[in-house]
Amino acid sequence: MKGIRLACLRGKEYSPKYTRVLTAAANKLRSITISKHYEANLTSEPMKPAPLASGHSVPLQDNDLPAIAGGTPVRSREARLVFGAPVIGEAEIASVVECLRSRWIGLGPRVEQFEQEFARYKGAPYAAAVSSGTAAIHLALVALGIGAGDEVIAPAMTFCSTVHAIIHAGAQPVLVDCDRSTFDIDPDLIERNITPRTKAILVVHMCGRCCEMDPILEIAHRRGLRVIEDCAHAIEAMYRGRPAGLMGDAGCFSFYPTKNIATCDGGMVIARDQELHRRLKVLSLHGMTADAWSRFVGGPTGYEVVEAGFKYNMTDVAAALALPQLERVEQHWQRRKQIWETYNERLAGLPLLLPPPTESTSRHAHHLYTPLLVLEQIGASREQIIAALDAENIGVGIHYVPVHQQPYYRKRFGFTNADFPAATFVGERTISLPLSAGMSNHDVDDVINALARILRYYKAAA
Ligand SMILES: Cc1ncc(COP(=O)(O)O)c(C=O)c1O
Repeated sequence: MKGIRLACLRGKEYSPKYTRVLTAAANKLRSITISKHYEANLTSEPMKPAPLASGHSVPLQDNDLPAIAGGTPVRSREARLVFGAPVIGEAEIASVVECLRSRWIGLGPRVEQFEQEFARYKGAPYAAAVSSGTAAIHLALVALGIGAGDEVIAPAMTFCSTVHAIIHAGAQPVLVDCDRSTFDIDPDLIERNITPRTKAILVVHMCGRCCEMDPILEIAHRRGLRVIEDCAHAIEAMYRGRPAGLMGDAGCFSFYPTKNIATCDGGMVIARDQELHRRLKVLSLHGMTADAWSRFVGGPTGYEVVEAGFKYNMTDVAAALALPQLERVEQHWQRRKQIWETYNERLAGLPLLLPPPTESTSRHAHHLYTPLLVLEQIGASREQIIAALDAENIGVGIHYVPVHQQPYYRKRFGFTNADFPAATFVGERTISLPLSAGMSNHDVDDVINALARILRYYKAAA
């Protein structure tokens, strides 16, 4: 309040409209304590460029008040930018309608076609479509024979379901910390967590950047461990020329609505081993030797139940939604890459640690753009920044509050933040900006301008 008034009185020429905005903001902020250093900070040095990026910083106006402090939101409520919105066009709609009209909506020929086309895209010998990314990981663990009495190494920095899948398989998760800049599991910490009970390493290619697979595969090979890749973020990713999902024993993909291919819910397991693939297929449908489509085509009699399997199959409606998206997956990747580069260039002057560059022989899937907030310079918490973006009608995400901080895992395993300092650091600072192939340049400008005005505002108020 005091700071706002000071800003008004510092002899600058403000338009009547801006004066009204400032007055409204001052009223709104009456209950908010603003640091007594506010005035001094208004004249302080401009922010330093983020260390990992280069390029031009965003030009900011002195009078650019964020919506949370009474300014006009960069977007109207009606035009709110939805985080992770899928790109569903006429081709997807037509494909789903055609499937519905065919009256074969469950597991059927479109699922088989999607499996074949996804396998071709990935260069995988085998692909098994399932009902979700979580189902894919669970199934891969079970099909690889991992269960009670086994331990599985997994990252602390991931979505809970990566680790839930280990629990559901009946095994014990052993969490390992991440690298602070890539968010991926730290290969140097894996070996010390291996015990005689360890059966597998479950890696997650966070945000679309592949883990350091060479040392991980070397450890796995030397210690006789299975490797499962959680590729929920990594459909288009490569590590030193090798496709994500084909470096270990099984690669698990998600087609959740925010993913690079979205089927409402869906997943896929790719594998190089024919026997593993056969087991995945059987386990994904009740442990039956023939699916409904084969029974429909070949007559109703021919199946046996050979295992107590799961109901994890994909449906033809989901596959119909996926097929046109798969055709455009590279085109969408190109667009997200462009947006990524624009963010890198234009967020460079803000108190953010931007994602590190990718090696020239590897390929980032550009699934999540996740700068770290340099909280020490910002003068606001991550939650305040998110609330301020919300007021600008920009939807953002957090990927993730790490697993060791979730109450269930804290309680069950007694994890503390000190056990995972890097994941804790990242988890407190990370923020995911909208990154969708459907975004226009104008949308991208809005995100940049909103974040810039907010960070500048809090810095000035600190
Ligand atoms: C890293 C990671 N693993 C696993 C999953 C689970 O995928 P699904 O939601 O398709 O079950 C997700 C989904 O958000 C994820 O981001």
